Order: sequence, then C-alpha cells, then structure tokens
Amino acid sequence: MKYKSFNAVVVGSGVAGLTAAINLAKANINVALLTKDALSDSATNIAQGGIAAVMNPNGDRAETHLADTLSAGAGLCDGEAVRILVTEGPKRVMDLIDLGARFDLDQSGHLAKGREGGHSFARVVHAGGAATGREVERSLINFLESVNVEVLENYFALDLLSGASGIKGLRAVDPSGDFTEIGADFVILATGGAGQMFPLTTAPLQSTGDGLAMALRAGAACADLEFVQFHPTALAVDSQPKPLISEAVRGEGAFLLDHRGKRFVDELLPRDIVSRKMAERMAEESSAELFLDVRHLEGFARKFPNLYEIVKNEGFDPAVDLLPVAPAAHYLCGGVLTDPDGFSSLPGLCAVGEVACNGVHGANRLASNSLLDGLVSGKRAAERIALGKRKASPSGVFNAPVLHLEDWLTNPDPTSAESTVAGGTHMPLVYIADMTAGDLRGRAGKEFYAGGKDDFLTTFRRTTGRYLSMSRSREGLEAADGETEDLLAALPGELNRNEAEVANMILAAKALIAAAFQRRESRGAHIREEFPLQDGRYGVRLVHGAKDILSGTVSDSL
Ligand code: SIN
Repeated sequence: MKYKSFNAVVVGSGVAGLTAAINLAKANINVALLTKDALSDSATNIAQGGIAAVMNPNGDRAETHLADTLSAGAGLCDGEAVRILVTEGPKRVMDLIDLGARFDLDQSGHLAKGREGGHSFARVVHAGGAATGREVERSLINFLESVNVEVLENYFALDLLSGASGIKGLRAVDPSGDFTEIGADFVILATGGAGQMFPLTTAPLQSTGDGLAMALRAGAACADLEFVQFHPTALAVDSQPKPLISEAVRGEGAFLLDHRGKRFVDELLPRDIVSRKMAERMAEESSAELFLDVRHLEGFARKFPNLYEIVKNEGFDPAVDLLPVAPAAHYLCGGVLTDPDGFSSLPGLCAVGEVACNGVHGANRLASNSLLDGLVSGKRAAERIALGKRKASPSGVFNAPVLHLEDWLTNPDPTSAESTVAGGTHMPLVYIADMTAGDLRGRAGKEFYAGGKDDFLTTFRRTTGRYLSMSRSREGLEAADGETEDLLAALPGELNRNEAEVANMILAAKALIAAAFQRRESRGAHIREEFPLQDGRYGVRLVHGAKDILSGTVSDSL
C-alpha cells in the first residue's frame, strides 16, 4: 500500500472539480485533483448547449431564470439553492471569461445568447456554436497549470476512508495498479453521473456512478435518485455513448417529426415533457426513433460546426436528410445530498456538479443549468473549505423536516410541502433505504462474469433499459431488483477497476430502484405507469443513507 496526504482531494476533472481545485489552490490549500483517465476525459468536455445565465439582461431577470428553473424542476427544487445559482451564476461566467474562456459574440460584440427548452428568454451563452463544454474545460485546464494543484491522472478512486469525526481520505488504485491511501481532511466528489448504466446514453464512458456509489457505501445521505433526465435528441446511431444533437438546434428552430413527417410537440418545452411525448409517439408507431428536421435552418454548418461534423461522420447531410433521434439518458438529477456549498451529511465529504444533489435541479434539470451549477457549487465548496468548516450548514438542507412516508401519506399536508419551495426553504426529506451493504466486493464467483465486462454490461443494460428508463412500473422495478441482485452476486470477489465500475453502476441502479419504487406518482423525469399523474403528497425528497442523521438522533453533530 502506498500513501499520500493532502488537505483536500478533488475527485473528477469536469467543470465542478476543476473549479473547486483552482479555488482551493488560490486559497493556499494543499490540494490534489485525482481523475480516473486523462484530465480532459469528462462529461464537461462533450457538453454542448451552453451555460444559462442572465448576462446583459435585455428584459430578462434572475427572478425569471429562477421561476423557469423551479418550473422545470416540477416542485422539487430547493428554493435557496436555486436562488444562489441564478444570482451567483453570471459572476461565475465572468470569472470564466477572466480565466480566458472565449464565448460566442453577437454582431455587436456582446455575448451571443441561445434559447433552449423551458427558458422564457434567450439566455444561454455558448462557445463554438454548441461546443461550450470543450471551451470551458480547455480554459479551466489551462488555468489549472498556473496554480498549485497536484494532478493525479489515471488514479481510480475505490472508496472513502471514514473515521470517528467523518471522512479522512480515500483509497485509490494508482496507474501502476497499486493500492494507494490518500489522506485528506476533505474529499470533494466531482465524479459526474451514472449514464453508462443505460443502453442509450449521451454520457461519456467515465460516467459510471463512482462517486455516488462511494458516498452510498460510506452512508452519506443521497437524494432524488429516481430522476434520470433523458435528453430528447440523441442521434440514433450504433454507438455508446450516443452523439448528442444539442437542444440549441431546436432553439434555432429545428422540428421534431414522426414517421408521417408530422410535428407532434412544442420542441421548446422542458426536456422531460418533450422526451415523454417522443416516447408516446414512438410507442404508437412501434418505432425506435423519430426525426429531427434541420433542413430549413440557415447556416447549420456555420452555427454548429461540431454538430455538422458529427452528423456528417455518421453519413447524414443535414441540408438533405432527416436526422434519426431518440431520447437517451443524459443527466442524473439526484446524487449526494448537499447544502448549497456542496457539504454533505458526512463531515469532510463534499460533492459538486452532477454527482451532487444540492436541490437546484429538482425532478428535472433545466437545460444548460449544469455547467452553471458546476461553476457555482465548485467555487462555494472551495470557499467554505477555506474557512475551515467541515460540516454542512446547520440551517441548510439537513435542517429540513424529516417525514416518515407512510405517516405522511395517510395524513398529508401538501400545501406545506409545496410552499417550502416558494418560500425559499427546504423540501421535507423522507428516509427510504440504507445502501451501505452494497460493498465493493462481488458475492459469489466468476462463473457468470466469465464473459467479461462487455457481456456482463450488456445483460445489466438490458435490465436498466427495459425497467429503469423513462417509464417504470411496480412489476418492472421488482424484476430489476431481482436481476441486479443476481448480477451483484455474480461479480468476482476481488474487483479490478473495470469490475469496480460495474459494481458502482449496479449500486446506483439499486438506489434508483428503491427510490422509483417508493415514488408512486409521475413527476418530472420519473414516470410510474400505474400512477400517471403528479401527486402533491409526494412533494418530498426521497433520501438514502444517513438514517441516524435524518431521524434526528445525531443532528447536533451537523
Ligand atoms: C444540450 O446541448 O442540449 C445539452 C445541454 C444540457 O444538457 O444542459
């Protein structure tokens, strides 16, 4: 076993992790940034549309951005977190410009702003048309080189190390395959989502739920895991991940067509609604894809050069061909439950970006709020760490009322739950499951796993695709629970990186199943076939882990 030690270790190198590491270094904190592949291998690097922020307002206001975010979030956002996001966001975009990021400008030299689904104004700043993430990643990595951050590439984080006073570091596999213990007062998870657990996803190969699974195993509170956002327009071609065709293209006027060539939905509604309408139309037509029509758009190649390349490489001419598209898993709205500074229920453990659930996304993230969230939460976490705090804010989300679901459902007060959002306070929390038993060891032996990771993943993704995608049912969730249990049992006893990624995805799926099972309604990105309507009684957040904290028995320790 090798050892290293830092004040803080950031895991993950997308916008949130890079922002946290840079700001920690600026505050003279001894910080390492660990990432399982190369620095630029992140979801940020392939993010397209842009960053939603009210810059040069022109009639738009932070209040309107707030209202749009709450509306897309379908009643489950944390009002305080969203207010922070929309008010601090524009300053963080300016910080990025100061670091050297180059965003697209309009003809008068101001930031060009695009429109995306669920936004009442054109407020999405972008770079290279729809190659915004690449520019964000480039500028942050470029700046990272000028500050004092120890970069540990090709290190795979296995698990958190806990002590009596909270998290004290993590265990990783280094590039030569040796185990390394990295001691740290703070671990900042910035590991992104878990899109790779689905057969159809736009998420990069790195999105295997590692940070989420580490947090679940350590007993950190994790919330809203039933809300997996499906992006309406993944290019329906034979690759994993699927190439995304940015929502910005619909913002420019592209149409969604069915097989009869008919439009069937307002293309600029929030993503969950558009994806749901697409699923319905695909079921009616018994088809696996619909079409995006960009043929009438002026200057598609000039405005979206990266998308032009993508579709050309797949053999389509956007001036002539309809582009086959289908909804694909895109973003995990839930994650490690945190306050707006990214502080979790475990002292010393922070989470920022997609792996976190700070309440800004609710049941369905508003388009282009994710890079924004990474910038805002990454900086806030670093600032609070620099103050020497190790615990979450006592007045924050962990101070929310804790409900027992069965009691609540028999004696609900929906108005009090829904009004917490409007009043800027926190949604009630309902404890549903303890996932700490999902340890990182397989249970039986290699027999079933003998076909290797690819065969095993195909089997796993058949389960997630069939039962855990946009529409879920009690029967399907029970089947998925059994099938994922069998898969866990079949993993070998000692896991290498590939196998650990699979184990992490299975644990993320099991947490999703537990939450989806309990949420007997349809809301945002979660659809239950037996309960097609939103039910005001479920205006609560379903939480895994940290039972003792959530039941109030150790709340003084926060
Ligand atoms: C897109 O460009 O459509 C994706 C942007 C996002 O996920 O917010």
